[in-house]
Amino acid sequence: MSKKKMPVKKLVKKPKIEKAKPRVEVKNEGGNGNKKTYNLLRGMHDVLPKDEKYWKAFYHSAENLAEHFQFGRLETPLLEEASLFIRSIGKGTDVVDKEMYIFEDRDANKVTLRPENTASVVRAYIMHGMWNMTQPIKMWYWGPMFRYDRPQAGRFREFHQAGFETIGDADPVQDAELILLAHNFYKDLGLPVEIHINSIGMPEERQKYKTALVEYYRSKRSYLCDDCKQRLNKNPLRLLDCKQERCQPIKDEAPQIIAWLEEDSKNHFTKVLEYLDEVEVPYVLRPSLVRGLDYYTRTVFEIYTVLAEGELPGSQSALGGGGRYDLLVEEMGGKPTPAAGFSLGIERSVTALKQYMDAKQVKFAVTDLDAFIAQLGDQARRRALKTINELRASGLKVSYNFSKNSLKGQLEAANSLQVPYALILGQKEVQDGTIIIRDMESGVQEIVDQKKVEHILKKKLSRFDGNGKKE
Ligand code: HAM
Repeated sequence: MSKKKMPVKKLVKKPKIEKAKPRVEVKNEGGNGNKKTYNLLRGMHDVLPKDEKYWKAFYHSAENLAEHFQFGRLETPLLEEASLFIRSIGKGTDVVDKEMYIFEDRDANKVTLRPENTASVVRAYIMHGMWNMTQPIKMWYWGPMFRYDRPQAGRFREFHQAGFETIGDADPVQDAELILLAHNFYKDLGLPVEIHINSIGMPEERQKYKTALVEYYRSKRSYLCDDCKQRLNKNPLRLLDCKQERCQPIKDEAPQIIAWLEEDSKNHFTKVLEYLDEVEVPYVLRPSLVRGLDYYTRTVFEIYTVLAEGELPGSQSALGGGGRYDLLVEEMGGKPTPAAGFSLGIERSVTALKQYMDAKQVKFAVTDLDAFIAQLGDQARRRALKTINELRASGLKVSYNFSKNSLKGQLEAANSLQVPYALILGQKEVQDGTIIIRDMESGVQEIVDQKKVEHILKKKLSRFDGNGKKE
């Protein structure tokens, strides 16, 4: 009797789909107790009006620098082909292996929310034939990036970057200009920073160095943390990034990449440092700095707040980072084109600035208010509205608060907005065709003709420098 073969049930292991756990990281204070309220997704955050001034200050700093250093604004989509980032950032990096928001769209294209923007800038450079234009092409951007990171202090799943990229010039002066720009971005707002800098050479130099590094670390394998044991096989340069205490003495004794650099790379690095000395940008040579993305060649740098006394370097995370990436344009299908750039994390920058000053002390040019109009009574309110409109049309920035009736309350509001002048309109002023101009700092008041208020105010404001200080 022939035995009928029983069909073998194929055991297909279903991927374990973890149910999304809503995490309450910010206390939800608004519910009425009857209906479900919503929280943010893990690692996401709102930017609240109370922080607007810090965000604006950084935006203006970036915009100002872009104007002075002649970078044109480039806006790229938040969603791009996933392979754009896999190819440029590189397999084996944390960003590609663990942190990309990858999914299929309705046409089964593999797409990703951009984890960074350099790859997109390079894509745009190639796609729009920018190599045909006068080089270098200097571009800047500002916007959200997404990384499925483990949320912790200074680490979000959606965060913002301001970035600057110079494509088409290999001269070390370009590296120095970018570093100067990153430094000024903070200096303009009064936040002291220092640059940590290193050179990781070209791939052939790095390959030789990696061999030496692996050989050195293999001999110490049993003393390493679990992560480093993995890095040893997967991405040996990342061994130098380890923050575990047990690995520090091993790291301190590790061979340094500088010793593996050939003449050209060494010269390039020396020149970058000479330029930085010239413009007096403070830097720290950090031989263990290798960065977490694969596309870098030669110069790499990161920006840190200057440490307070007693603060340990390990406890800080970088405000920003960047470097040269001379091979990326070609790697992404363009002509061989040298390039360099950096990006600054805005959330981390805002946190750092908050440690140095409260919102009132944040000063920046361009959008500070010029005056506040306070009014008393119906007629005055109507006249105030007209005056606001006229002053706005003349280019002045005027605020008001019609929901406060008392003069005291309105002047308090003016004070908290830090306007240099308040304009006061009461019944008497409306009848007389006058208005009171109050210097908010000294409290001195003068009565002027309403028709002349624009002219007088502009004259007074011209005594202010761009930072709102009297000259
Ligand atoms: P990156 O070092 O990966 O470089 O990121 C730059 C900055 O973005 C970091 O220093 C940090 O301030 C901020 N950042 C990164 N990840 C997070 C996160 N999960 N949460 C909050 N902030 C974060 C780049 O992205 C390169 N594209 C820089 C570059 C431009 N290189 C050449 N050109």
